[in-house]
This record gives sequence, C-alpha cells and structure tokens, in this order.
Amino acid sequence: MRLPDKGTPQDAIIESMRERKKADADWRGARTWSLVYPAGEEVDELLRAANEVYLYENALNPFRFPSIRAMEDDVVSMTVDLLHADSEAGGAMTSGGTESILMGVKTARERARAEKGIERGKILVPHSAHPAFAKAAMYLDLEHVQIPLDDDYRADVAAARRLATDDTVLIAGSAPNYPFGVVDPIPDLAGLAAERGISFHTDACLGGFMLPFYERLGAPVPPFDFRVEGVTTISADVHKYGYCTKGASVISHRNASTLHSHQLFMYDKWPGGLYGSFAMAGARPAAPIAAAWAVMHYLGVEGYTRLAQVVRGTTERLQAGIAAIPELQVWGEPSMSVFSFGSNEIDIGAVGDVMDDRGWHLDRQTGPDALHLMVSPAHEKVAESFLDDLREAVATHGPSRGRKARYS
Ligand SMILES: Cc1ncc(COP(=O)(O)O)c(C=O)c1O
Repeated sequence: MRLPDKGTPQDAIIESMRERKKADADWRGARTWSLVYPAGEEVDELLRAANEVYLYENALNPFRFPSIRAMEDDVVSMTVDLLHADSEAGGAMTSGGTESILMGVKTARERARAEKGIERGKILVPHSAHPAFAKAAMYLDLEHVQIPLDDDYRADVAAARRLATDDTVLIAGSAPNYPFGVVDPIPDLAGLAAERGISFHTDACLGGFMLPFYERLGAPVPPFDFRVEGVTTISADVHKYGYCTKGASVISHRNASTLHSHQLFMYDKWPGGLYGSFAMAGARPAAPIAAAWAVMHYLGVEGYTRLAQVVRGTTERLQAGIAAIPELQVWGEPSMSVFSFGSNEIDIGAVGDVMDDRGWHLDRQTGPDALHLMVSPAHEKVAESFLDDLREAVATHGPSRGRKARYS
C-alpha cells in the first residue's frame, strides 16, 4: 500500500476499521482464552476515559509532565507493596512483561559486571519460562541456559544447582509459568542464587496481580514475592490480571539502588542535553500509565479480590468439568487461573480443531500436547457452554488437521 494521494473522511476510516475488526477474535463474547483480560463494562469505560485524558502526552520527560511521573510512582508503590517489599524497594513501569523481563536481566548483567567483572555471563531459567528471557539473552549478549522441569512441570532445583556456575548472572523462576500455570520452587531457586551472590528474578507477569488476591481468599499460594529471601527483581503486568489496557507492566527491585545503578540509562555525550531512561523505549505513551493508575484506584483490594473470586470459581468449575471427561486431564497442579489440559488417549489437537469450528480460540501447546486456558472474569458466563462443547468435541472429533502449536 502507498500513502493515499488524498485524505479519507473520518467516518469512512472508522467504518472501515469496524468492518476489518469483524474478522478478529471475539474476546467480548469470552470466546478467547488468552491475550485480552476483560473485567466488565464498567472497567472498560474507565479505561477508555483514562486513555483519552492522556492520549497525546509523552512519559519520556518527567519534568514536562509531572502528573504522569506522579501516577507512575503511585503504580510502582502500590505494586511493590502488593509484592511485600519494604521501604528500600523501587521500580519503574514498562510497556509489558517482555520489557520488564529485559530490564530485570539487564540489571542482573550490569550488577554482575560491576561486582564480579563478568563480561559475558549466562542466565539460568526454567524450560517453561517465557520466551522473553531468551529474547533478553539474545539482545543483551548473554547465554540462555534452560533448567529442566521435574514431573510436576516445576523447575528441577537439583539440576539448577548443577547448572549454576561462576559466570551465572541471573537465575529466574515463574509465578506462575504460562504453559502449565504452576509456580516454580522460588524459595529454593532464590536461595541458590543468594548463596552464590547471583541476582534472582521472579516472573510474576501473570501472577503479580492475581496471586496476592488468591492469598486473601485463603487459597494456597506458593511463596514467590519479596518475602522470599534472595528475590531481587519481580515483573508484574498490570495489563494482564491488573485489567489495564495494553502497555503497562511494573519491574520492581528489592532495593531501589539497583534500579538507579543498573537499570537506568543516562547519557549526555551529544548536544541535546542530559538523557535518562529506565526503559528500552525512548518516547513512552502516557495513556497506559494513566489507565493503570485509574484501574488500580477503581478496583482497589476489594475489587481485585472480588474479581479473583470470580476467576477462581470459574477456573475450578472448568477444571472439574475437564476432570470429569475420562479421556482428558489437566497437566500438573496449577496455582491459579492459567492451565493446560491434554490426553494420554486421544489426539487433543483434533479436539482443539472441533472447538475452533465452534468458535472457541484455544492456544495449542506441545510437550506435552495440550490446549491452553487463561481464565478471565468474562469466562464466568461461558464456562458451561464451553464444557458442553468440549464434551461433544471429545466424543465426535476426527483426525487432527495438524494445526501448528501457537504461543501467545
Ligand atoms: C509468564 C509470562 N511472562 C512474561 C510474559 C510476557 O508478557 P508480554 O506479552 O506483556 O510482553 C507473558 C505473556 O503471556 C507470560 O505469560
């Protein structure tokens, strides 16, 4: 496509977008199980309004837009508090889980350089960890070493101990991981890291805004946050179970000193003046910061706990329904609302094909083969019809169409 010679009327542009959108996944109808986390019409309305108020501002320069700086500080403070950090903690907002993980890895690399003189180190992450760690290793010229999983799909601590070497700059664990929704043995992994003076990152991109509320509901939550000795940084995504629109995550540091010494980029060797940035990006949209601030204030502990109860109840109904289908089983013991299920008897990909035909969008996994669910509040109303369709899909599926595994 070339830039059109003449402009197009606004109505026609918006109409064309609405038309194109018809081919997209129907997340409002709760037919998708990843990517979007709908929390209801009232939250949607607030998010639209907050985005609108800060549509144009740039969060790059905190001196020009002090209101954005103050909102970012508030979001970070509320998040580190949820994660049980003390007054020494600090953090910054980023565009998402991947950027928070990149910043966690960068911090660890710089720290190892400064304290141990390690020029090209390695990071040790579970086989189930998000690809963002592999991406970070590639971008930051580090070696990416995977810790094998045990039979419960958690990182194997004994293997991690064997793999940790003098040039390891970071060990990480997930709370929970994306493929199985299980939480790695964070105290053991972080303890191993602390023993050897290695940084430890908990990837709580999924759990950061859900596990604290599961805990308030009395659910058994494995230790994952700053209460665990040795955890030095945590990523937690406001744009997942914090229910913010996309572009909002927090990278928290146990000690704000590492934020300033190892995450911050400062530069003044050009004519444009002093340039400082805590993120990969330069110019940063202000709207996600405003939306995060708005939704966190709107929901508060009470609202998040209420939504966690809805999600937990729906997850339990779905898991019980799946367990009641003899051919199917949930893999591992998921800690919250993310899980996958498969079969030792039938081709789960073929079941997924039938579910696709019925308008459900389920991500496929391999190792073991599985269909993946990430439950949001909107799924409460569709859980029974999903299970009805799943029962029929198991009963009627033909051969698999061999669709490739996808990852989101
Ligand atoms: C456990 C985990 N970590 C990190 C990420 C990356 O987050 P983002 O897609 O916001 O970059 C995801 C995304 O699903 C995730 O599930």
